[in-house]
Amino acid sequence: MKLAVVEGDGVGKEVIPAALEVLDAFGLDVEKIPMELGYGRWERTGSAITEEDIDALKDCDCVLFGAVTTPPDPNYKSVLLTIRKELDMYANVRPIRPLLSVKGIHDRTDFNYIIVRENTEGLYSGIEEIGEEISTTKRVVTKKGSKRIADYASKLASNRTNKLTIVHKSNVMKSDKLFLDVCRQSATDAGVTHSDELVDSFAYNLIKNPWNYDVIVTTNLFGDILSDMSGALVGGLGLLPSANIGEKYAFFEPVHGSAPDIAGKNIANPLAAILSLKMLLEWNKNMAEATILEEAIDTALNLGLCTPDLGGKSTTSDVGEFLANYIKTRLE
Ligand code: NAD
Ligand code: IPM
Ligand code: MN
Repeated sequence: MKLAVVEGDGVGKEVIPAALEVLDAFGLDVEKIPMELGYGRWERTGSAITEEDIDALKDCDCVLFGAVTTPPDPNYKSVLLTIRKELDMYANVRPIRPLLSVKGIHDRTDFNYIIVRENTEGLYSGIEEIGEEISTTKRVVTKKGSKRIADYASKLASNRTNKLTIVHKSNVMKSDKLFLDVCRQSATDAGVTHSDELVDSFAYNLIKNPWNYDVIVTTNLFGDILSDMSGALVGGLGLLPSANIGEKYAFFEPVHGSAPDIAGKNIANPLAAILSLKMLLEWNKNMAEATILEEAIDTALNLGLCTPDLGGKSTTSDVGEFLANYIKTRLE
């Protein structure tokens, strides 16, 4: 496998080395292609990502990505959004599942849902007019874009509990009526039981009764917000992995950002990145390795070996090192 590795900015530079230590412990045949992309590079060189970088990413089988800083400057285009669009990775898949030894806001741990977030359009269209008096962003919902994400979610649901929740705001934004109709049709065609909820009351229901949900499909910005919110259910943003999937390319990254408030201190939780690596291993059909990695993470957490966000005293690199050593011993 040819793997592009992008540390990015802030804690990306800490969590990705920890994830690579874990990957290396498996001794798989992986050619790693390190790439410098992001805000730091922009500050240094005036360019955050180029056409050549996109080509280099496309030349790899998949990408492991840390996080990038995205300033609100209208002249700065987000590296992450550029990559998602250029590689047409339309499905942002964000599994929310508690690790049994980490407490979230509920005592119950019997929930396990997946947010399937449309990743290329909606309010992230990039079609904007920025002015002194009025600034607008065009919300784009297409039948094609809605159908491919709806079909992805319906297929995922049919491989799980056959239950799909469509989350939208079509009472106010009529553009969401198209999204809703296409999702309903896709679920019906796939024989998937489905219901829909308006995003505001859905956010309340999800945080209150997460065990009521399985696969959730929604538009770009709602998926962004609901995924960070879900972090509270499982013990924090340091534990949420994600995959960006398209027809050709796949890209794995933690849900969290560059966390400038804790960057450079070696205290960021690397598990979101390491669980993203686990998604990569599963995508690459390295199922045995994914299982061992899960076992290693459970062992570390049961020993209280974790970073301060989870109440522990370990550093980012301690966690990576423990997991790597566990894996090496397990494979001996
Ligand atoms: P953030 O996710 O970086 O941080 C939010 C909070 O969560 C912070 O208090 C941070 O310390 C904590 N946190 C995040 N990751 C953690 C980890 N691994 N371990 C422990 N605590 C962790 O969100 P933000 O502060 O709103 O954004 C910071 C920058 O990151 C912004 O420039 C934003 O645009 C960018 N961002 C990038 C990505 C990405 O690259 N995928 C995602 C979100 C935000
Ligand atoms: C995420 C991030 C990105 C998004 C930003 C950094 C562009 O918040 O991956 O959740 O909004 O998609
Ligand atoms: Mn986000």
